Amino acid sequence: MTSKDKVALVTGAASGIGEQCARKLAADGAKVVIADLNLANAQRVAEDIAATGGKALAIAMDVTSEEAVNAGVDETVSRLGGIDVLVSNAGIQIVNRIEDYAFSDWKKMLAIHLDGAFLTTKAEDTLVFQVDLWSSRGKLPGDFLDVSERTKDIQYSSRTRAITAFMSQNQKHAQMIKALLEHIPEKLRLVHPVLRAAQKVADGGAVNVVHLIYKNKAFEGHYKDYEFSEGTMREHWTSGLEDIRRSFAHPEWFDIPSREIGFVTRDVHRYRQEANDTMGPVKELSPQSKRSLEEKLPGAK
Ligand SMILES: NC(=O)c1ccc[n+]([C@@H]2O[C@H](COP(=O)([O-])OP(=O)(O)OC[C@H]3O[C@@H](n4cnc5c(N)ncnc54)[C@H](O)[C@@H]3O)[C@@H](O)[C@H]2O)c1
Repeated sequence: MTSKDKVALVTGAASGIGEQCARKLAADGAKVVIADLNLANAQRVAEDIAATGGKALAIAMDVTSEEAVNAGVDETVSRLGGIDVLVSNAGIQIVNRIEDYAFSDWKKMLAIHLDGAFLTTKAEDTLVFQVDLWSSRGKLPGDFLDVSERTKDIQYSSRTRAITAFMSQNQKHAQMIKALLEHIPEKLRLVHPVLRAAQKVADGGAVNVVHLIYKNKAFEGHYKDYEFSEGTMREHWTSGLEDIRRSFAHPEWFDIPSREIGFVTRDVHRYRQEANDTMGPVKELSPQSKRSLEEKLPGAK
C-alpha cells in the first residue's frame, strides 16, 4: 500500500499527532487535507507542508457538526477528486474525578471522539485503521502506585472498542430504519423532512475497521507519560510493528463489507484468541470457518 497521490483527510491535523500524521503522509506523496476547528493553525501546517514540496489543503471543520463535516468532505471531493484515506484523529482530553466531572464536559468529549469518528466515516464506504495504544481496563488499585497507573490507563486509553461498539450499534439502527422505510410510500418519503433525514441515515456507507492493536509489550509500568528512554521506545515500536504485520497478513480483512452487512471490525488479538480456542491455529482455517468465526466476533456484524 502506498500513499503516493492518494488524498488523505486528517482531522485535528492543526497540531499534535494529527499534524505529524499529515506531515508523514505528505512526505510519502499524499495530497493531505488539514481539517481542524482551528483554521489559522491548519493553514500554518498546510503552508509549511507546501513550502517543503508537499501538497496540502487547510479546511475548517468541527467534527461534531454533520453540516461542517459534509461541507468539508464536499470541498475536498470537489477540489481533490475524492478521499482515499481518512485519519479520524481530532480529539480532546478532559480528565477529572467522576464526582467533579461536569456532564457537559463528558458529552463534549464523547461528541468529538465518537460523533466525529462516526460523521467522518459515515458519508462513504470506508476502510479504517484504528490505532489502539492501551486499554482503560485493569485491576482494582491496591496502593498509591496502582492508583497513579490506573489514572494514566484511563486518561490515555484509546477507547477503540467503545467507538467500534457505538458504530456497530449505529449501523444496526440504520438497517432498522431502512427496513421500516420500505413500508412507507415513496411519495411520502421524498417530501416529509423527518423521513428524508431518516433515509439519509439509512443510506450511510459501509465501514471496515481494522484495529492495529499494540498489545504484546513485554512490560508496561506506571510511567506512561514520562519514561521515553531509547530501550523502552524500541521495545514498544517493535511490538507495535509486529502487531501491524500480523494484521496486514490478512489482506481479506481489508475488504469493505456489503451495504447490507454495513459494519465489520477486525482485531488480530481477538481473532487469534478465538481461533486458538475454537478451531486451532489461524493458518488452518478454511474461508468458510473464517466467515463463521467473524460472525462470532463481538460487534463484528
Ligand atoms: N497525546 C496522547 O498521549 C494521546 C493518547 C491517546 C489518545 N490520544 C488522542 O489522539 C488524538 C490527538 O491527540 P493530540 O495529543 O495530538 O491532541 P492535540 O490537542 O495536540 O490536537 C488535537 C487537535 O484536534 C483539534 N480539534 C479539537 N476539537 C476538534 C473538533 N471538534 N473538530 C475538529 N478538530 C478538533 C484541535 O484544534 C487540535 O488541533 C486525540 O483524539 C487524543 O484524544 C492522544
